Amino acid sequence: MLDSYGRTIDYLRLSVTERCQLRCAYCMPEGPCRTGDDAALCSLDELTELAAACVALGVKKIRLTGGEPLLRAELLPLIERLRALPGLEELALTTNGQRLAELAAPLRAAGLDRLNVSLDTLRPARYRALTRGGELDRVFAGIAAAEAAGFRDLRLNAVLLKGVNDDELAELAGLARTRPWSVRFIELMPIGPGAAMPEAFLPADAVLEAVPELRELQNAKGSFQREATEDGGTDPSTSLRSAQDDRPRGVARLYTAPGWAGTVGLIAPMSACFCAACSRIRITADGRLKPCLHSSEEYPLRGLHGDDLKAAILAAVQRKPARHHLSGSNASESARPMNEIGG
Ligand code: 5AD
Ligand code: SF4
Repeated sequence: MLDSYGRTIDYLRLSVTERCQLRCAYCMPEGPCRTGDDAALCSLDELTELAAACVALGVKKIRLTGGEPLLRAELLPLIERLRALPGLEELALTTNGQRLAELAAPLRAAGLDRLNVSLDTLRPARYRALTRGGELDRVFAGIAAAEAAGFRDLRLNAVLLKGVNDDELAELAGLARTRPWSVRFIELMPIGPGAAMPEAFLPADAVLEAVPELRELQNAKGSFQREATEDGGTDPSTSLRSAQDDRPRGVARLYTAPGWAGTVGLIAPMSACFCAACSRIRITADGRLKPCLHSSEEYPLRGLHGDDLKAAILAAVQRKPARHHLSGSNASESARPMNEIGG
């Protein structure tokens, strides 16, 4: 699919639940979720039908998100069905890791290709406070189980938070020194509760100051390496088209250092907007297509089938905006917080 700016749209982020057992301060308010349970959300059949229509239209990669996707009932049969879609090249999932120790092997067996695990701090008490109840031990047990189950190129995501984890950037990045992981630092976006904490914003370049030995990776063509995932990062001055042609594209600027087993990724939606290379659409767990994370526009897809469904998806993609307008004083226009959209 091409959008109205000539961007290839081939990446779907599909949210399977709004629920989460954690309440990260920047992501979810305290208290129960808006929907309470998954009964009002798309069924397994509906999610499969939506994903299949997107794949038929050219989506090559799907990431399952939430809320916390591992809380969704029937997640494993969903993964089996999605993996069987002809044309799908990669099926990934983002998790907080709390239930990963039990589920890593079954997820792998069901056909999941890749995992991102959220990990904002290495201090157990800090983790418990930031997530309002999470256990750091479980995340590490989950990561170990994922490796044992055969997941490779694990990605660990840390949101940069001034006053919370700014004193452990080198330690977090250092996980990639001995392990073949990609530790990715994400700038805090003003969406949901994150919009109410501007004082916590820390630019991605703080990681380079904390770990001066990091060097940006270059690919064979001489252009800087980016991960082929997430929103595509780019210099805002490049045209939309050339930004996307600079593949492999992705949100993260990648770094490593001599002797390191893994990489460090910087994801800077605020200080280096990457919308020009964006290849993604999102579908919420209640079946609404969001052409852009930060726009209020949503297109309900539930109840549509066959050609009607495909036409609605194509029409929504045509409405994808050029970029977000986030800044220190400009919050996301999204009508919903991250757990209802899928980080
Ligand atoms: N800014 C940046 N990242 C966020 N996430 C959730 N809310 C925000 C925000 N306001 C991220 C989480 C997780 C992923 C699911 O989304 O850190 O890695
Ligand atoms: Fe894509 Fe919207 Fe994110 Fe920009 S803000 S990268 S257009 S989803």
